[in-house]
Amino acid sequence: MISILVVNAKGGCGKTTIATNLATAFANAGLRTALADCDRQRSCLGWLKRRPKDMPEIVALDWHKAQGKVPDGIERLVMDTGAGLRSSRVQEALKPADMIVIPVLPSVFDERATRTFLKKVDTLKPVRKGKKPVGIVGNRLRSRTRAEAELDEFLAKLGHEVAARLRDRAIYQDVARRGLGIFDLSPGRRAGAVEEWLPLIRLIESQDGSVGREI
Ligand SMILES: Nc1ncnc2c1ncn2[C@@H]1O[C@H](COP(=O)(O)OP(=O)(O)OP(=O)(O)O)[C@@H](O)[C@H]1O
Ligand SMILES: [Mg+2]
Repeated sequence: MISILVVNAKGGCGKTTIATNLATAFANAGLRTALADCDRQRSCLGWLKRRPKDMPEIVALDWHKAQGKVPDGIERLVMDTGAGLRSSRVQEALKPADMIVIPVLPSVFDERATRTFLKKVDTLKPVRKGKKPVGIVGNRLRSRTRAEAELDEFLAKLGHEVAARLRDRAIYQDVARRGLGIFDLSPGRRAGAVEEWLPLIRLIESQDGSVGREI
């Protein structure tokens, strides 16, 4: 199993959007997938309730109070966390994860809030030693803006770089409303959007050496 924690103390940066869409990527690739909701708002659980029954199954785990057991046979576990995670709780939150995905919006407010969080993550031993890779996702990027370059500069100063760049697309809100992710859509409808996820998915899949899997 590969477990992925989607986390950032900053609210509204796209944690739930990334967690739900990643889960649809794995489920559509035929992997037994669970989505654990560690957020009091329980957005992922609501999304799973809206998910049509004929879509590839994603197992719901309600972990908003405490982390529970992962059912047998799960191959990919995606964990969504809430905003406002305190520095003192970062280490504990990271424990069940093989890797960490941190979404960041290209805005000065988000960068500043993320800086403290990222510095804390970087102090943790498994991260320092490269045992738990960190994938930073630049989210809601718009073409032809300086904001994207500024996000790169901000991350470079912290010794990081963007692992994947997701554009600002109305499709994410459309699919979320219907309990879907973009990987559930037909190739024609998801054109363009899916390619942006591939660097992140490759990074995740490199964790168990199953290179070449069709996602
Ligand atoms: N790439 C994107 N393009 C367009 N809209 C997006 C994108 N990513 C996220 N959004 C929208 O931004 C809003 C916030 O996203 P989301 O709920 O995923 O953030 P969050 O980090 O989970 O928030 P919270 O901290 O409240 O849990 C939502 O309305 C979502 O649909
Ligand atoms: Mg959320």
